[in-house]
Amino acid sequence: MLSVRDLCVSFRTEQGVLRAIDHVSFDVEAGEILGVVGESGSGKTVSLLAVMGLINDPNATVTGSIRFKGRELVGLKPSDLRKLRGRDMAMIFQDPMTALTPVYTIGTQIAEQITTHQNISKRAALDRAVQLLAEVNIPKPEEAISRYPHQLSGGMRQRAVIAMALSNNPSLLIADEPTTALDVTVQAQILDLVRKLQREHKSSVVFITHDMGVIAEIADHVMVMYAGRIAERANKAEIFRRPLHPYTRALLDSIPPLRGPRPPRLRAIPGAPPSLLHRTEACAFAPRCAKKIEICSLKPALRGTEHEVACHVVNHG
Ligand SMILES: Nc1ncnc2c1ncn2[C@@H]1O[C@H](COP(=O)(O)OP(=O)(O)O)[C@@H](O)[C@H]1O
Ligand SMILES: [Mg+2]
Repeated sequence: MLSVRDLCVSFRTEQGVLRAIDHVSFDVEAGEILGVVGESGSGKTVSLLAVMGLINDPNATVTGSIRFKGRELVGLKPSDLRKLRGRDMAMIFQDPMTALTPVYTIGTQIAEQITTHQNISKRAALDRAVQLLAEVNIPKPEEAISRYPHQLSGGMRQRAVIAMALSNNPSLLIADEPTTALDVTVQAQILDLVRKLQREHKSSVVFITHDMGVIAEIADHVMVMYAGRIAERANKAEIFRRPLHPYTRALLDSIPPLRGPRPPRLRAIPGAPPSLLHRTEACAFAPRCAKKIEICSLKPALRGTEHEVACHVVNHG
């Protein structure tokens, strides 16, 4: 479905060139949910914005290869990318208002998304919008289509955006922390919904989060990112049962317990991510790593087949 190779994204800044994404490769198979996890600033959003062709910053340079259904997207004309977006691939963000405008009703906005890509009447598109709102469990969908975004709660707005993203039955849905701003009950409902829709529409999903708890709920495969590189990748059971990278272990240690009293403070990972401005050839995690040895001053390759890890120290098993 999606095959990304050697993706690099750099931004020219006043302080110099910032390499946000440094040789990242990954695949998304048909019908799978790939969870992408890492602390803030690890390059989750930028790498998937690159896939969508949505890095509009004139100071950005994107290199590498992004093949979607066999078609190369790097270097594709903006007009061709626009045709793909919203039809074959769609993205939802943390803030549903990124996708909605305040001045039109939910129904109008979903119908517009449909008529842009499909040759059907406004009336038929509105009927489809009602159906979609029902699918994402919005109560009284025939009334909800006449509502404006501000008349819905945050959770309902995010559902409406998911309905809009699904309106043309995309083969790839990218969800960038879509539940981060929601309370835990609503968050769980939205995760159930994404799973259900992925099963019914057989879409592939890339689900971005900083939260290993969310990964546990949603992902089939997991890609752990650190400082714009892949630290570790495996199926979900492997990642939770046998985390190899010291960074993955630290992320797992910072999940709040599901049961029992919450600890007064979660164990945070000491130190801060490195500057991406002047990258060194060392392992990016080394400055924060308790296991670091001399060889960590060299960049570790991502090694392994089913379970891959970029670390000089751990046993690849
Ligand atoms: N337009 C931009 N110009 C300069 N730096 C950027 C730009 N967009 C993102 N970055 C940098 O790229 C890095 C990765 O950001 P991002 O992908 O948003 O992280 P995440 O989504 O994992 O929190 C960060 O260091 C961020 O500051
Ligand atoms: Mg982000």
